[in-house]
Amino acid sequence: MSSQPNLRVLVRRQEIAAAVEKLAAEISQDYQGKYPLLLGVLKGSFIFMADLVRLLDFPLEVDFVRLSSYGQGKESSGKVKVLQGLRSRVRSREVLVIEDIVDTGLTVAFLLDYLRQKKPASLKLCALSDKPSRRQIPVTIDYLGFTVPDKFLVGYGLDWDEKFRNLPDISVLEEVS
Ligand code: IMP
Ligand code: MG
Repeated sequence: MSSQPNLRVLVRRQEIAAAVEKLAAEISQDYQGKYPLLLGVLKGSFIFMADLVRLLDFPLEVDFVRLSSYGQGKESSGKVKVLQGLRSRVRSREVLVIEDIVDTGLTVAFLLDYLRQKKPASLKLCALSDKPSRRQIPVTIDYLGFTVPDKFLVGYGLDWDEKFRNLPDISVLEEVS
């Protein structure tokens, strides 16, 4: 980005926290007495995952998978590949994928297909945010935090070119010259 980035807060940390609490309550109800594998999609989900699991009061396992789709720009390349595969057993497990944002849907649709082939007992998706206006492939989000407009967002794990993941609020990244 040659111009100066300009950040405008879209979702404040308090609203994010409320959304995470609501998701944790729903997930707790559905997975009570089970022993799910929560599979975070790196890197974007790391903060969300950390906040979410601390609100879950039942036994669970955590693992991460690293996929690539974006490269360094703001647009999805449409090509997805697994950069770092999961180490945990998936077969016959209750698997809950944790995503930061579903945009075109290409990344998570690829991951869900990949996991489905490993025959989990159940496979569900939890996404903090959804940008439905950009969808290229249908994706069912079982647990959703909030819907966001078609803007490029940063903060709370979301990056632009690896920057801004550490910001506690979610902001719109606007370019000003
Ligand atoms: P999709 O394949 O287009 O659905 O993109 C999914 C991935 O792209 C997400 O897991 C994010 O890591 C990244 N992504 C999508 N939209 C944004 C955004 O607005 N800001 C930062 N990263 C995004
Ligand atoms: Mg991601």
